[in-house]
Amino acid sequence: MTSKREVRILLVGDPGVGKTSLILSLVSEEFPDEVPAKAEEITIPADVTPERVPTHIVDYSSQEQDEDILQEEMAKSNVICIIYSVDDEDSIERITSFWLPYIRTHLGEEHKVPVILVGNKCDLMDFSTEEIMRPIMNDFAEVETCVECSARTLKNISELFYYAQKAVLHPTAAVYNSEEKELTLQCKKALTRIFKICDLDNDSILNDGEVHQFQLKCFHAPLHSQSLEDVKAIVKRNISDGVANNGLSLKGFLFLHTLFIQRGRHETTWTVLRTFGYDDNLQLTKEYLSPKIHVGLGCTTELSLQGLHFLKLLFQKYDEDNDGYLSPPELQNLFSTCPMMPWGPDVNNTVCTNHNGWISLHGYLAQWELTTLLDVPRTIEYLAYLGYQYLNDSQLSAITVTRDKKIDLDKKQTSRNVFRCHVMGAKGVGKTSLLQGHLNRNLRYVATLNKEHLSSFTINTVQVYGQEKYLLLHEVDVAVSDMLNPTEMNCDVACLVYDVTNPRTFEFCARMYLKHFLDSRIPTLVVACKTEHPAIRQDYHLSPAQFCHKYKLPPPQSFTCIDKVNKEVYIKLATMAAYPNLKRLVHMLLVQQNPLWLQEKIRSGAQHVRDIISRDDKIYLKIGLLAAALAGVGFIVYRMSSSSSSSR
Ligand code: GTP
Ligand code: MG
Repeated sequence: MTSKREVRILLVGDPGVGKTSLILSLVSEEFPDEVPAKAEEITIPADVTPERVPTHIVDYSSQEQDEDILQEEMAKSNVICIIYSVDDEDSIERITSFWLPYIRTHLGEEHKVPVILVGNKCDLMDFSTEEIMRPIMNDFAEVETCVECSARTLKNISELFYYAQKAVLHPTAAVYNSEEKELTLQCKKALTRIFKICDLDNDSILNDGEVHQFQLKCFHAPLHSQSLEDVKAIVKRNISDGVANNGLSLKGFLFLHTLFIQRGRHETTWTVLRTFGYDDNLQLTKEYLSPKIHVGLGCTTELSLQGLHFLKLLFQKYDEDNDGYLSPPELQNLFSTCPMMPWGPDVNNTVCTNHNGWISLHGYLAQWELTTLLDVPRTIEYLAYLGYQYLNDSQLSAITVTRDKKIDLDKKQTSRNVFRCHVMGAKGVGKTSLLQGHLNRNLRYVATLNKEHLSSFTINTVQVYGQEKYLLLHEVDVAVSDMLNPTEMNCDVACLVYDVTNPRTFEFCARMYLKHFLDSRIPTLVVACKTEHPAIRQDYHLSPAQFCHKYKLPPPQSFTCIDKVNKEVYIKLATMAAYPNLKRLVHMLLVQQNPLWLQEKIRSGAQHVRDIISRDDKIYLKIGLLAAALAGVGFIVYRMSSSSSSSR
């Protein structure tokens, strides 16, 4: 995996140093006695180059071409070879007095195009110009390497072009600071992320098994156990804490890469970096972070089993004390391979935590489901940072795109696991308490929370006919105009909340229902909050119960959370979201611990139940589970007239 798909090499230098001869020697493998001023551009096909990339070689001759062309060619090139003649002092002097400054002037002082200094005609001299080149390499960071060769004897000709190719494909500057003789900060950061991802048991050591897996992933070949022992021995000899518990420490890992680069084996380090998504500037590529995902209209996104499995393993990896919760340092650690913490303090009030506010595994997975539903590109991006691709293929396998909701409605069944409920109500009716109650938090607890860190979302699982489903509650702030935008209407169930102690709160629910939900296919539940208090008559021409009856809504669901949270409301909302077709089953008394056979019956009977209803709209069904019936018969279907049910 390389980021460049071709390499363009430009040869420059004073007249007569042998540029054209070098190119022709490479191509014909013999020294041409007579050469034109300029060789035609040649292209070496990918399969005959060592790095398997098509390579263009471009000549320049001041005899034939003017500076405009030179500048144009410089701008197009990926690597520039400055040719000098080892027997010509002037041509050597001109490297620093003309060519290097000239390139900087036209490509920018901090340009990233590597330069190779090439001493041609070494057949004419006995001594090397290496000593003269070394200070130039120190002064000009863009100089990648220098090489001496001869077009006449063909010495080092193919090496020269190989170095040029390598300079492009495995640039040194990004990974190694030649002056300090150490890895660049960026490179250390990238390798540290890689180390953490590969340290599967999170013990800060890459043991033999982990190195083996790493090797397979990056190089598609196992490392022989003897080679591994040799590597460890080298590291051990050079830095004392590079090897611990017979495995590689982070220090040892970084040292190894420094060694690779110092020995000219940049490609080893680059192969590792590229396997983990880095480009030439050590930024993670867009393809790595954000593979395209298609989510059609009416579809939603959830975590697949594979995605959930990865995230669960990650939780377990970083829950160092195994207490089932992530303490703040553990959470910090979990996200240490990411550019920043994706979760702020409001997450603690969005999902279930322990009394310290630490997120449980359950809450952690719920938060990921929330992100995946609301902002799937973010989930995909963070999975990349977290190293999903190390153990799996593309992050797309972590995501399930559900089918269009219209199909679910038509087929009267859904395979979705995450449902969205929008909660609306007038000011102060108890929406936040309803949201927090979803996390099993009573009013007393909610009162202790920092108001700034409250969230307009909460998510938790709910049993729907014995199946675990996620219910996401979203408190929607309704504009003064009562308008809801399409996103605010985009939910599986609507929850309209009023306060039984405030007579001016039900009117809002009625208004919202009539304006937005009456003609929609969105099931709606009216919730009466604060029912530990007696209900006051609402200022509306219909009582809440009459209103619900008139519009065939389930009767108002009472809710209180002062001490113990009344959880029935969440089950009802989730059930209505999952089975919107059953919305006329206004009196379904859902009981959480349905015996299995009953769940099955309800599932398979859903169609049948619908039939009964469509035959007589006035029939209300009541599916109840009597406590005594647990021992024997399971559920009873009551047929009642609508009037008798609404008076309840
Ligand atoms: P311009 O196109 O004018 O910029 O020159 P150039 O850099 O292309 O040089 P060219 O290849 O034309 O070579 C100039 C002279 O040097 C020719 O006479 C070549 O035969 C000779 N020459 C090139 N390479 C070598 C070499 O490796 N050894 C020796 N001894 N002579 C060489
Ligand atoms: Mg020439």
